[in-house]
Amino acid sequence: MQVFHSKSTLRAHISSLENQQFSLGIVPTMGALHTGHISLVSAALSENSVVVVSIFVNPTQFDKAEDLEKYPKTLDRDLALLQKVSKEILVFAPSAAEIYPHGNLSKSYDFEGLDTVMEGAFREGHFNGVGTIVEELFRIVQPKRAYFGEKDFQQLQIIKKLVELRKIPVEIIGCPIVREPHGLAMSSRNERLTSALRKEAAFIYATLLTAKTKFGTKSANYICRWVEQQFKNHPSLRLEYIAITDVATLKPVARKRPLVKYRAFIAVYAEDVRLIDNIALN
Ligand code: PAF
Repeated sequence: MQVFHSKSTLRAHISSLENQQFSLGIVPTMGALHTGHISLVSAALSENSVVVVSIFVNPTQFDKAEDLEKYPKTLDRDLALLQKVSKEILVFAPSAAEIYPHGNLSKSYDFEGLDTVMEGAFREGHFNGVGTIVEELFRIVQPKRAYFGEKDFQQLQIIKKLVELRKIPVEIIGCPIVREPHGLAMSSRNERLTSALRKEAAFIYATLLTAKTKFGTKSANYICRWVEQQFKNHPSLRLEYIAITDVATLKPVARKRPLVKYRAFIAVYAEDVRLIDNIALN
């Protein structure tokens, strides 16, 4: 496994491979790797001869300095974990100055409304920051395929829109959510939960599962009010939002239509740890 900290050395290495027959995959991450990330890396390894895993806690996608500060940074542990997965991985772990030599500034995108709801509504500038780093990683690495988890489903749709808008020739592959045994979606943020809170947070997925069973007979509005009520009875978890949307547009459902795919999205605070999850409803 090779680790690169600069764009130019990574680019030079990739260029040196380009004469050989090879296909390049990328798994962009912010580190604090867990089984969910490893499932993305395994998918990438199964479909590409070379895989770049980027580890970069991207400052421009955090709307609160405090959240950025608290985000777990565990590079040595991450490298040890990746080394066990495959020696063929190229790790790209740049500094903020390497990525943002002119200061931590985001580009501004028009994601055609995908970014104004849910995460976009609650985290100002978040998706401009995500778009900026992902576009930059694609420019540096020039991958054939890129792998993202469906836990960040809104992000996945926005990245698909980004490559369409910027005409970037990369296939975006969404991979299923990986869950802890009691159902909590795996996230680097889970590390900040006490074991008691981690168990309690399983309630988030349990609620989504019940919402899914109700979706056959109840309206989206009814289900959202029902979810809000469930969290009122569960004071250690504070619901930030529940939304049921059309998968393609991410617009809230007013009236269910045949042949349209719907998903429920949720954001919850467990003490000061913000957790998100989602589920396909049909
Ligand atoms: O999903 C993440 O971990 C981040 O948003 C990403 C895609 C690596 C961009 O920083």
